[in-house]
Amino acid sequence: MADPFAWLKPALKTLHRAQWYRQPTPSGAPGAMVTLGEPPRPLINFCSNDYLGLANHPQVKAAAMQAIHQWGTGATGSRLLSGQRPLHQQLERAIAQWKGTEAALVFSSGTAANLGTIPALVDQRDLVLGDAYNHACLKKGARLSHAKFCEYPHNDAAALAQLLESYRSQYRRCLILTDGVFSMDGDVAPLDKILQLAEAYTAMVLVDDAHGTGVLGTNGAGTLAALGQSSPTVIQMGTLSKALGSLGGYIAGSQDLITYLQHRASTWIYSTGLSAADTAAALAALEQLQADPSLRHALRERIQQLEEGLQKLGCPVLPHPLPTPIFCLPAPDPTTVLHWGQKLQDAGCWVAAVRPPTVPFSRLRITLRADHTPAHIEQLLAALAVLLKCC
Ligand SMILES: Cc1ncc(COP(=O)(O)O)c(C=O)c1O
Repeated sequence: MADPFAWLKPALKTLHRAQWYRQPTPSGAPGAMVTLGEPPRPLINFCSNDYLGLANHPQVKAAAMQAIHQWGTGATGSRLLSGQRPLHQQLERAIAQWKGTEAALVFSSGTAANLGTIPALVDQRDLVLGDAYNHACLKKGARLSHAKFCEYPHNDAAALAQLLESYRSQYRRCLILTDGVFSMDGDVAPLDKILQLAEAYTAMVLVDDAHGTGVLGTNGAGTLAALGQSSPTVIQMGTLSKALGSLGGYIAGSQDLITYLQHRASTWIYSTGLSAADTAAALAALEQLQADPSLRHALRERIQQLEEGLQKLGCPVLPHPLPTPIFCLPAPDPTTVLHWGQKLQDAGCWVAAVRPPTVPFSRLRITLRADHTPAHIEQLLAALAVLLKCC
């Protein structure tokens, strides 16, 4: 019998040849220091999205454990069947209040939020315009919707305007998709210009603020809040899995939008509700980060320290309009970036070496946390100085 999976081995060989082969790395509990490798050894963690250090926070963990005691582990069904708990509504009310919207809806991941929401809003009669550097799940959501999908060059509002001028009148609805803070570059979308264009061309805008949420703006409300932007055209999407240290995603917007998604977003309707532990952890993290601005202040100080240090080393640091905890150091090719990642590990620092196809070009992605100390940043800068001298 011919093997229907015969294509797998050559496909894997191609991945190896291109240096695109990847393996998950097991690490210890989340923190500024993690244990990694065989034998396990402590490294400074510049690799996580736990920007405020809440994934291992005593109160957040206690809330998750208390929720398990009260509600059990799994939600046991879709929210529309047996999976709804009072905690879900509590979290949704808290997110809406935080984001300044009428309502919010929690999904089982950020990816599920985007994959469910985008095809619920648009179909083959509609137009979707997205930034070329958007997260993969925004792109996938756009393709799943069957709408006409065009990408504009990264952060190029003039190109977006041209696309709107050329195509908008030919389609029923229009949806613009952008990350708030770009996950692999750490820069920020020109939301003021995007919102102006959306109003001028009657377009909806979905801002994926996975990496701005909890970090930027008053109370950590995110990129829109930090830029002083708001508009009835905006759908605010985000994750519970980064600064909130839990798991899940959300959409915040008008009550009509949320009610509509409860009837049309397939990844919400046909998927088990978020577990009690994840829901309670996100709620506790949200309370914690609103009550304790010192977490954001500490993170900002480390961002400034690294930015200044990189500038002194002559690294090409992109000027960001807002202080984000993600730094991207471009590398010439996948082999070099893997080598850099290993050298940094040898020097005690765990930094992500990110390669295509996740990103258009290889780079080190450095992420900072509120619980990094000034000495942690100094150690990274010293390791980078050695690395750059050898290149
Ligand atoms: C910008 C952006 N959107 C969405 C997601 C997906 O979120 P989740 O991990 O909750 O599925 C991510 C995750 O990395 C992200 O960076």
